[in-house]
Amino acid sequence: MTARFPNTREFTGALYRPSRFEGEVFDLEVDGQLPTDIDGTFFSVAPDAAFPPMREDDIFFNGDGAVSAFRFGGGHVDFQRRYVRTQRLEAQRAARRSLHGVYRNPSTNDPSVLGLNNSTANTNVLEHAGVLLAMKEDSLPYALDPLTLETKGLWNFGGQLTDAPFTAHPKIDPLTGDMIAFGYEARGDGSRDIVYYEFDEHGAKTREIWVQAPVSAMVHDFAVTERFVVFPIIPLSVDVERLRQGGRHFQWQPDLPQYFGVMRRDGDGGDLHWFTAPNGFQGHTLNAFDDGEKVYADMTSTNGNVFYFFPPADGFVPSPETLVSQLVRWTFDLSVKGGRLDMSPLTPFPAEFPRIDDRVALRPHRHGWMMAMDPTKPYAEDRVGPRPFQFFNQLAHLNIATGKIQTWFADEASCFQEPVFVPRTGSSREGDGYLLSLVNRLDERTTDMVVLDALRLGEGPVATVKLPLRMRMALHGNWSRAVSPSSIKAV
Ligand SMILES: [Fe+2]
Repeated sequence: MTARFPNTREFTGALYRPSRFEGEVFDLEVDGQLPTDIDGTFFSVAPDAAFPPMREDDIFFNGDGAVSAFRFGGGHVDFQRRYVRTQRLEAQRAARRSLHGVYRNPSTNDPSVLGLNNSTANTNVLEHAGVLLAMKEDSLPYALDPLTLETKGLWNFGGQLTDAPFTAHPKIDPLTGDMIAFGYEARGDGSRDIVYYEFDEHGAKTREIWVQAPVSAMVHDFAVTERFVVFPIIPLSVDVERLRQGGRHFQWQPDLPQYFGVMRRDGDGGDLHWFTAPNGFQGHTLNAFDDGEKVYADMTSTNGNVFYFFPPADGFVPSPETLVSQLVRWTFDLSVKGGRLDMSPLTPFPAEFPRIDDRVALRPHRHGWMMAMDPTKPYAEDRVGPRPFQFFNQLAHLNIATGKIQTWFADEASCFQEPVFVPRTGSSREGDGYLLSLVNRLDERTTDMVVLDALRLGEGPVATVKLPLRMRMALHGNWSRAVSPSSIKAV
């Protein structure tokens, strides 16, 4: 390989310089005592460009998906990392160079990959019905073997789905094992179609509903309750003509409202009701639940365009200090004629990547965990440079019932990756368990995993798992109890 990665913030520094490795580390080094009542696997995926990009201005989200597995049991943890062998990565490896141009604009790719699937499978990994799904919202998922991380191929659930895109944020009903999912731009780039799916615990599709959004725009995460689903339409619009001219897939629209489509799960889509709120950026969902004709969705919301790499037509990019992301409770009242939407903040600090105890998903929750940012805390800018994109210097726990907040700040040269809640083996009480999070050590250019008592974050880690290498910033991951092998037949 002779090409070099660009000297841009997307490809440099302790968070964003590509890691590019695959491998295993048996029995990771641990500081402290790793609890023996953590039993299962933490799967996570990072965009990690396998080759220097075709374009200098390439973005983090265009990196090839590299899946990590941290397998816990008996007070030990083993580590494994493999790239998802997507069609595009296999083509790149054969050519020993990147063949892919502008993010989500296949018309800018090398002609040799015309017709190949364009997914990087880099956004989220989730085990369901014995299949590890590696997901990117512009494509069907890839199926991986959860025990080996071997890629089986594009996954249409055994022929049950068309090739419509599939979200990277499906939800699991903890009581039934059902998976609830959707896809947007479901009839092609620039289409307003959304397809909604439900699958049973064995992966059999039980529901499919097609609806239309008011505009063609990003629908990254969504919210699901026992009876309703909420589609948040982020004001990042798609324009087919722009794509044809080689432009970016998304463009921020400062004059568009935030749209939220609320729909009954057991209907045919005819009841879908669109609520609007002032322009803003809907982030990730903590959880949602319903009570009668009211739907409550706790999601992060930012007062402007978080994605500086998808600017509006005039190119304006807000400075990071002016953007404030908060965890917000949206209340959708369907009992009022025309619907009524209320919004109230749940956190007094900037926060993103919120997580719950997944055992209460779709139902009322008491606890939430998230990455948080406290700008008053010390930061070693002289040693490690300016704060990178997605810099969060604290882990936070919010008791939603009492409003009480606990935080843990690592040090002046560390920041976090998305945490995950892990129930203590044998317990059933919400919140009884651990919070796991990767910590980027900006000074040493290494990565640790901290294990905290989820309800006592302030006391700091009970154990710190040391990785002998640096992990590029990941996006999302999920906890999985011990999984058994399954026969996966890919597309
Ligand atoms: Fe996400």
